[in-house]
Amino acid sequence: MQCVRKVTEDLYWVGANDKRLALFENIHPIPRGTSYNSYVLLDEKNVLFDTADWSVCRQFIENVEYVLADRTLDYMVINHMEPDHGASIEEILLRYPKVKIICTAKATMMMNQFGFPVKNIQEVKEGDTMSFGKHEVTFVAAPMVHWPEAMVTFDTTAGVLFSADAFGSFGSLDGKLFADEVNFDRDWIDDARRYYTNIVGKYGPQVQKLLKKAGGLDIKYICPLHGPVWRKDIGYFLEKYDKWSKYEPEEQGVLIAYASMYGNTESAAHILATKLCEKGMTNIALYDVSCTHVSYLISEAFKYSHMALLSVTYNLKIFPVMQNFIEDMAALNLQKRVVGVVENGSWAPQAGSLIAEELDKMKEMTVLNEQMTILSSLNDATYDQLDDLAESIIESMK
Ligand code: FEO
Repeated sequence: MQCVRKVTEDLYWVGANDKRLALFENIHPIPRGTSYNSYVLLDEKNVLFDTADWSVCRQFIENVEYVLADRTLDYMVINHMEPDHGASIEEILLRYPKVKIICTAKATMMMNQFGFPVKNIQEVKEGDTMSFGKHEVTFVAAPMVHWPEAMVTFDTTAGVLFSADAFGSFGSLDGKLFADEVNFDRDWIDDARRYYTNIVGKYGPQVQKLLKKAGGLDIKYICPLHGPVWRKDIGYFLEKYDKWSKYEPEEQGVLIAYASMYGNTESAAHILATKLCEKGMTNIALYDVSCTHVSYLISEAFKYSHMALLSVTYNLKIFPVMQNFIEDMAALNLQKRVVGVVENGSWAPQAGSLIAEELDKMKEMTVLNEQMTILSSLNDATYDQLDDLAESIIESMK
């Protein structure tokens, strides 16, 4: 049976949710599942905006058929060709063989690469417009948000932005389509940040370009390909995107991430957190990198202004999971953070200097402290150095 929601007078959400998938892109855990959003516009010409992942194709097709009823499908706009949205294109073509696909030239190339040799295509580019009857749309190029073929489509008649991967979030909708039907800031923002930072985070400058273009549009609705639809308080989410894509922290606070083998580096992390709290900085998130998926660490690194990285030395290198976290930060272009570094080692400790070297390759990363080395476990001198580090973190916030 259909599982559909009305977005505006003529527009319907025909997507579907997947609560079974463990790993988004087979890498990021999604304990709350995900939605694959797709939309049908009923007008003189009927239009489908993107399809859905193959895993939810059955529900998606039932929804499309229900909304179209005895109407025909005239157009299918493909804003993004990643298979979590493009996988059901062929199924739509089998059921509606006369449908014309509207997409960028790069999307055509990708359809061929993914094995959909589509013929009935109208390629569009930045600024092209089209009328479906009452509704007129403009196509806006959005390369690298999140793939090179991506575009967004703006319905100028209704003020609806079909934003592709932009403004999306992990999380199954569970019936609640609109962001104003949930407590977004309490229940969704962490998943929205984790989605953005890990999926699109690398492409901050391209997101900035898209935000500048969006600034010139009278947007009343944002319809992303994942997560809730926005129709109220859109500025709240635009502001988050602006910060994330400029690599500016959302909050003054400290992410403490530690890599510890036998608990001594872990102990230093807890003592540092305690000292920060005693000195009045309680906005702290503390994680053991060995048992926290890196996607969560990345999300927190984007959120907070400061980081403390504490790592044991392993095979004369940074502990592998900490190394992975730092490499991921660099891959996603994280910038503009203030970092305290602590190393541990029972002989030849050098994780700290190696971490500092990695941070030095990134943009505008400031290492706060002189080398702080723990030899196996804390002693009075290193205990005091943690106090100094807490002090300098707080000083740097002023
Ligand atoms: Fe949800 Fe880049 O696809």
